[in-house]
Amino acid sequence: MVLEDKFGRRINYLRLAVTDRCNLRCHYCLPEGFHNFLPKDHLLSFEEIIRLLRIVSSLGVTKLRITGGEPFVRKDLMTLLRMIHQEQLFESLHMTTNGVLTEPHIEELVTLGFKSINLSLDSLDRKRFLQITKRDEFERVMNTLLALEKSVIKTKINAVVMAEENTQDILPFVQFTQDHDVHVRFIEEMPFNGTGRQPKSTWNFKAIESHITSAFDLEPLTMAPGDTAQEYSIKGHIGSVGIIAAASRTFCGSCNRLRIGPRGDLQSCLYGPADTSLFDLFRSGADDLAIAERLTALVSRKPKDGFAAEKELVNSGERHASMATIGG
Ligand code: GTP
Ligand code: 5AD
Ligand code: SF4
Repeated sequence: MVLEDKFGRRINYLRLAVTDRCNLRCHYCLPEGFHNFLPKDHLLSFEEIIRLLRIVSSLGVTKLRITGGEPFVRKDLMTLLRMIHQEQLFESLHMTTNGVLTEPHIEELVTLGFKSINLSLDSLDRKRFLQITKRDEFERVMNTLLALEKSVIKTKINAVVMAEENTQDILPFVQFTQDHDVHVRFIEEMPFNGTGRQPKSTWNFKAIESHITSAFDLEPLTMAPGDTAQEYSIKGHIGSVGIIAAASRTFCGSCNRLRIGPRGDLQSCLYGPADTSLFDLFRSGADDLAIAERLTALVSRKPKDGFAAEKELVNSGERHASMATIGG
């Protein structure tokens, strides 16, 4: 048994959200005043997560990314990461984090085999960071960034580009890569704010690219299957930049991803509905074979692309959940 959809796409990359909670409040990711977080007894336990990881690994998943919410808000996250490391199930481990609580753990993340960390950071300006995140945590995030740069972990910055909010940060971020060994990705804003509000779509891939080329010579690199970012090198820069057409969804043809949320909810496409049946299956004492069969059945129905998935969601009368709930 392997995870493969009806379009022949092999799924070998699991994005596991370990919590839906976050210590920042970016409006594009969590609705204002949101309180509807999962109760603690609805989170998969560490033992349940390890069991699930053994199953997905046996089904051909080789890459694991830990996401949230903010992963470090999950109590005893490092204990879970040590347990995952001990299992030696995956070729590579990765994490997406906002960096507020990450810095003290970087050394251990290296020993646990983390190959890359994606750091969510939408501004290099302290005031704008506060406006966007509603929390005055710029300094701790920058400390994480600088510590990551000194470590052997590959570091990517995720900057969501928002009209009238942080577009003045685009060129400074590109400039930052001249003497910082980081890869900065500019991301089209997606409608995952949990309110149904559509983002202003003026800053799409093309607009971001032409804005950057007005000041820098971008050399496009070849995109590998499964990549979301079009990457570019810039002469004389030790870092590099990329653009993620997250809303335009131009990379679905080679998608290799599967998402599992903190309660075990499975999302075969970021834009589609979640299947909530794994939690009950787990708690009703199902054996590994039954869980593996459910996973392969759900993945086989993965929609062709993010547009087909969105249609399914809308037809079922639902709207997009917040990114903190989905897990990025
Ligand atoms: P790597 O390619 O392993 O570095 O990871 P990534 O870039 O996919 O992961 P990350 O969590 O850093 O996400 C970066 C941005 O891409 C975020 O805005 C994600 O929501 C978006 N993204 C990640 N996966 C997908 C996807 O499957 N579809 C779409 N449309 N966007 C995605
Ligand atoms: N649109 C695009 N990217 C988003 N992220 C969170 N919400 C959105 C959104 N609405 C990004 C975060 C994080 C990654 C997992 O997803 O910046 O880096
Ligand atoms: Fe894959 Fe859906 Fe993302 Fe497209 S939008 S890359 S199909 S998860």
